[in-house]
Amino acid sequence: MKLGRLNHIGIATPSIEASIAYFRDVMGATKIHDPFDLPSQGVKVCFVDTPGENGTNGTQIELIEPLGDNSAITAFIAKNPAGGQHHMCYEVPDIHAAREEFLAMGKKVLGEPRIGAHGTLIFFVHPKDMNGVLTEIMETPKGAH
Ligand code: CO
Repeated sequence: MKLGRLNHIGIATPSIEASIAYFRDVMGATKIHDPFDLPSQGVKVCFVDTPGENGTNGTQIELIEPLGDNSAITAFIAKNPAGGQHHMCYEVPDIHAAREEFLAMGKKVLGEPRIGAHGTLIFFVHPKDMNGVLTEIMETPKGAH
């Protein structure tokens, strides 16, 4: 496994609107992207940028709110009504190679690589095999960073 940049931390929320207000007013975030629907995952998504070095973007916060009846995070919100940390996402140079490596290590990979919120291929690995943390693996966007 070739560990890359920590791309984002996923935070589940019952209200993206309320979470945006929190990051803006309490945490001082100045770069908050427009929310959008990601129906394939049953979530509404909003990225909040944190600053990196020398004016670059740092790790993002990915706010995710349930969308529709079959949301991937319905159970999480039921267990955590106020929301909370849901997953962490690391970049890798080659998504298919990373998936093969996790499978070879006996990790429970959840499904085939699919297009994620950044428009690049992602997959998730079950928290039971990942030190208790639901882990998203994402191919580094071409030309990024
Ligand atoms: Co994510």
